Amino acid sequence: VLEASNNGDIGFRLEEKGHHVKRSDFPPEFIFGAGSSAYQVEGAYLEDMKSLSNWDVFCHSIGCGENEENGDIADCHYHLFLKDIEIMHSLGLKAYRFSISWARILPRGRFGEVNTAGIMFYDKIIDNLILKGIEPFVTIHHYDFPQELEDRYGSWLNPEMQEDFVHLADICFKYFGDRVKYWTTINEPNLFTDLAYRWGIYPPSRCSEFFGNCRTGNSDVEPLIVMHNLVLAHGKAANLYRQKYKVKQAGLVGIVVNCPTFIPLTNSELDIEAVKRAVLDPLIYGEYPVEMVKYLGSDLPSFSIKEKNIVNNSLDFIGINHYSAIYTKDCTNSTCSPIANRPIQGFFDTVAERDGVLIGEPTGVEDTYVFPQGMEEIVNQIKFRYKNKPMFITENGYSSPDLQEKRVNVILNDVKRVKFHLEYLEFLAKSIREGADVRGYFVWSLMDNYEWMSGYNVKFGLYYVDRETQTRTPKLSARWYKSFLKKNTTDL
Ligand code: NOJ
Repeated sequence: VLEASNNGDIGFRLEEKGHHVKRSDFPPEFIFGAGSSAYQVEGAYLEDMKSLSNWDVFCHSIGCGENEENGDIADCHYHLFLKDIEIMHSLGLKAYRFSISWARILPRGRFGEVNTAGIMFYDKIIDNLILKGIEPFVTIHHYDFPQELEDRYGSWLNPEMQEDFVHLADICFKYFGDRVKYWTTINEPNLFTDLAYRWGIYPPSRCSEFFGNCRTGNSDVEPLIVMHNLVLAHGKAANLYRQKYKVKQAGLVGIVVNCPTFIPLTNSELDIEAVKRAVLDPLIYGEYPVEMVKYLGSDLPSFSIKEKNIVNNSLDFIGINHYSAIYTKDCTNSTCSPIANRPIQGFFDTVAERDGVLIGEPTGVEDTYVFPQGMEEIVNQIKFRYKNKPMFITENGYSSPDLQEKRVNVILNDVKRVKFHLEYLEFLAKSIREGADVRGYFVWSLMDNYEWMSGYNVKFGLYYVDRETQTRTPKLSARWYKSFLKKNTTDL
């Protein structure tokens, strides 16, 4: 248990008991970093010829978060990136995961020119990272795309979007691939599909009337079509890289999947089976899992032989975003709540309690609980199902349930975040000792930023960002990460 004594200022004492994980428990070549995404940190939403993205339009129209916020300014990273790279360097990070704003480099998608100012911005980020010995780890698409692609043909519901994505990927490989060696194509396609097309929470807010006020869409079928287009878009981009760039650039291409740990609710065979259904199958084996085919029938799009070849074995590594665990109950043989039942991930209901006890301490994000042993569990599940394909933990982080907290000294004294990382890292180190091929770990996030529908109250950062002055201040967790990385200790 960690205890911080905070005398009302930022000077605190941290007593460490029972947490022994050290940098040296991981292989020397293991990469430790932190992450962000374009819409969440960049701001500068219409500067230098950037066009409106789907998120710009969405947040302007409905207002996101309780204060009707948006990412127009966010962390002003577009202007402060040099300072931010300095911060990364001071922490001792060896990698920075960030995403490309599609609307900044291709304001009109395939239907217009490359925006040189956008290319220059990412060139400067990449060059300055490398100058500081920090590996750029680039997500090509992290939720935001030019609104024109929505208006013109309905974005991910239309196979046209695959071609647009491949065009974007081609431009990224062409301009940045001489320096970027780690690419991930799409961030959390599995979660995005449900959020945007099943529950209608993210743009383009499509869902069926069952899900509340939203009456556009068909939440049984549309998520499947969208998922199919995302899988093919990934496959085509990965193939393009292998055929056109790999020999010269020698990089790796992966994808990033949202991976909570699913724990069987009971010991029944069916509940145990339910947790084994996974979404990555097509990208590794060229097929949807048999359960999906069996239960979805003709609603599930199928791959032609040519498409199977495109998606099969199209991953060099798997990016795992892991935060939480949830109990899982089979739905193939019993009735489940239609909201919870997620065909994309495989016919199960999820519940947070067993025998009246919550699975873990709640966090600031709905349905997200602290359950550190879930890290070992998820890594092992993926290791076994996908034959120990190289893995990176592309996101892991903590946001406090106290969303209304405004006292800066309390926000800075984030003992619970330190404890969270120490505990999750302990279980990660254990899985690596036992043979899992995990090659890196990225804290989400470098600094507090814009959290999609929740706005700025949800805070995952190692650094606190003052919204008026844009000053970045290290939290206790930043000091911990620095000691962990630079001094191989948990002492502060
Ligand atoms: C997953 C997403 O990739 C990221 O954008 C988000 O901020 C974090 N999880 C936290 O919710």
